[in-house]
Amino acid sequence: MIDRILFTKEGRKFYIRDASKDFHSEFGFFSAADISKGGAIKSNKGTEAYVINSSFIDEYERIRRSPQIIPLKDIGSIVAYAGIGKKSTVVDAGTGSGALAIFLANICKKITSYEIRTDFYEIAKHNIAELGIKNLTIKNKDVCAGIDEKNVDLITLDMPSPWEAISSIKKALKKGGFAISYSPTIPQVSDFVEAARKSEIFSGIRTIEVIERDWEVTERKIRPKSQQIGHSGFLTFARRIL
Ligand SMILES: C[S@@+](CC[C@H](N)C(=O)[O-])C[C@H]1O[C@@H](n2cnc3c(N)ncnc32)[C@H](O)[C@@H]1O
Repeated sequence: MIDRILFTKEGRKFYIRDASKDFHSEFGFFSAADISKGGAIKSNKGTEAYVINSSFIDEYERIRRSPQIIPLKDIGSIVAYAGIGKKSTVVDAGTGSGALAIFLANICKKITSYEIRTDFYEIAKHNIAELGIKNLTIKNKDVCAGIDEKNVDLITLDMPSPWEAISSIKKALKKGGFAISYSPTIPQVSDFVEAARKSEIFSGIRTIEVIERDWEVTERKIRPKSQQIGHSGFLTFARRIL
């Protein structure tokens, strides 16, 4: 767990695990007494810094990543369009590093995530323990072989062949619930949409790409930042009606 966050005046960010110990950095050391007090502090070399308590997003930024994780902009759209909240139950696959599952666990009532690979399952298990998440269960299982949970509000799929999970979704997703697939390429989107249509249980199948653009704002130099992330993935939403 991360205890405190320290920002230097120049904008460097440090994660402090234990506020009861002095923190050493290239800017000198910050005393445990100052860190615990919080607010504006100085290192022994005179560097000014500010200390705040950590929050979920700081912990989340620190998770161990193995396969590619889904960006926050796409998680935002999943949460918003599915309208999930503290009463929602969710199933997720594949777990990967557990990034999406961990984020959703912070919002929903209960989430179960399926991961076929044991090495990724172990990484996700480590991340979940590290963040102290209690409402997320991970299963080292193939989601296409079946989902144990029933009547769930949302099923998220971030895996190479999401269309192969349609029959599992059919048995687990409640009417009115959403299946949301995240895929980096159009052939994957096409195969998922085709399989979802064929199943005849969904309505309003819709695919979007969420584009996020950072801007540089320095006095009158206001323009999009030149180095931008090109493409992450496409989100396909399907709502179960039958
Ligand atoms: C891109 S990663 C998922 C990343 C994850 N959403 C995150 O945010 O950390 C895709 C994962 O799907 C897993 N996977 C592939 N096929 C699967 C299946 N049939 N059942 C469960 N997991 C599967 C892979 O092993 C891999 O870990």
